[in-house]
Amino acid sequence: MQNTRNTAERNENYKLIEKNTKLKLAPDDQTKADVLRMGKVVFRFESVGSTNDIAKTLAKKGLAEGTVVIAKEQEQGRGRRNKKWISPSGGLWFSVILTRKISPLIPLAAGVSIARTIRRLYQIDVTLKWPNDVMAGTRKIAGILTESSSTPDDYYAVVGFGINANNSYKSMPTQLRNEMISLSDLLGSEVNIDQLMQESLKAFSQDYAKIVTNNLEDIVRDWKMLTNMLRQPILVYEDEIPFEARALDLDSDGALLIQTKDGALRRLHSGNISIRRVEI
Ligand code: BTN
Repeated sequence: MQNTRNTAERNENYKLIEKNTKLKLAPDDQTKADVLRMGKVVFRFESVGSTNDIAKTLAKKGLAEGTVVIAKEQEQGRGRRNKKWISPSGGLWFSVILTRKISPLIPLAAGVSIARTIRRLYQIDVTLKWPNDVMAGTRKIAGILTESSSTPDDYYAVVGFGINANNSYKSMPTQLRNEMISLSDLLGSEVNIDQLMQESLKAFSQDYAKIVTNNLEDIVRDWKMLTNMLRQPILVYEDEIPFEARALDLDSDGALLIQTKDGALRRLHSGNISIRRVEI
């Protein structure tokens, strides 16, 4: 509780560059409205701790679904499994508030949206590594951190998108340099960050709409089309302890079905797990 309060207070101190409220649609244009709802309100910051923290504070205050928090850099960017997410300027770091439906498929849908957007805008054949890492070969180009609360007082999910856009792997600490790559590294020129955010949001609105309308099998199907890890040998790190397995399938709730070396079948949920493909 103390922690939450401190985070909220700290968040109040960040310098808001701009809060921009976009177009209003006619109420009868419902489909379009649903798709465009995200990004109607955007809070832009120069530098924050974590956009997810700001978005959570705003969600608790009742800000509407689709509200976006974006920052040029993050001082305390977070990744999955409490890892630090290095977020210098040049990257695309933003979080979106969702309030209509919380589902374990949200992170997978977010990965699908980003992979599709990168493929469409830049013709880079990115793939998905479970649960939602967007990869260019063996190097990570984007990651997603979903945090949610489902209590009688608070019902929201915050989806944080970290896309290595114009921040080069060359500026990363040596030990991480081979783990990530950015769009500008791959393309040899800078990408338009605003366009990338708009297109990512549009794609995510459409994929989230599938969750809201219960078309969950579409998300599972699209995720499977964008991965190359199924039926392949993998190394699973459970609480950082590795074991070998084979990835079998993605379950309807987003769990990864695997078979361990001794033949046992297991369903993995993302909390304490990370995966590596074994190159053969
Ligand atoms: C991961 O791959 O481990 C997830 C990385 C998520 C990073 C994004 S950047 C915007 C948002 N704010 C954060 O602190 N984290 C997410």
